[in-house]
Amino acid sequence: MNTRTAGIAHIALFAALIAVLALPPALPLGPVPITAQTLGVMLAGAVLGPWRGGAAVLLFEVMVAAGLPLLTGGRGGIGVFFGPSGGYLLGWIAGAVVIGLIVHTGANRPTWLRVIVGLIGGGVLVVYLFGIPVQALVTGTTVTEAAVASLVFLPGDALKIAIATLVTLALWKAYPRAFGQLARTRAPQKTSAETPAA
Ligand code: BTN
Repeated sequence: MNTRTAGIAHIALFAALIAVLALPPALPLGPVPITAQTLGVMLAGAVLGPWRGGAAVLLFEVMVAAGLPLLTGGRGGIGVFFGPSGGYLLGWIAGAVVIGLIVHTGANRPTWLRVIVGLIGGGVLVVYLFGIPVQALVTGTTVTEAAVASLVFLPGDALKIAIATLVTLALWKAYPRAFGQLARTRAPQKTSAETPAA
C-alpha cells in the first residue's frame, strides 16, 4: 500500500473507531452527554497527527450531519450541531488538530510529555473552549454556569486521557506506520547488540 492510500485508510479507520465508541451507553447527566467518543477523537489526533487526525473527525461528523446515527443513543442529523453539544462537536475537529500539532510537530517519536500535554490542551481545553459558550447560548445559561456544569465531564475525560496515552505509546511500538510522517522521521532504534547489558 502506498503512503497516500495508507493515509486515507487510516483516516477511515479512525472515523470508524469514533463511531464504534458510541456503542457504550452515554451518561446523560445534563444536556450534553458523557461519552466514550472523545477517546476516539483524542487517539485520532495523537496517532494520525493534525491533518489526518482532523480529517478523521471531520469525516465522522460529515457522516453524522448526513443523518447517520453515529452519536451515542443513535443520534445524527444536522440538528445535533445546533443543539447543546454542537460546540463540543466543532471542538472535536479543532481539538484533534491541536493534539496532533503538539504530539507530532518537530518530534521524531511521541513522548509521554507531548502526548499528555497534547491531550489536555487539545482534547480538553480546546474542546471545552468551543463547547461551553455554545452550550450556554443554546440552553440559555451564562457561560460561567455552563463552565461549572462542564466540571462533571472532568473525571471521565481524565480517564480517557490516561487510556489514550497508553494506547498511543503502545501503538507507536506495535505499528509506527499509523503515525505517518512521524514514523518516517523517527530516530533510529537501538539494536540489542548496541544496547548495553543491564
Ligand atoms: C454528542 O454526542 O452530542 C456530543 C457529545 C459531546 C460531549 C462532550 S465532549 C467533552 C465532554 N466530555 C464528555 O464526555 N462529554 C463532553
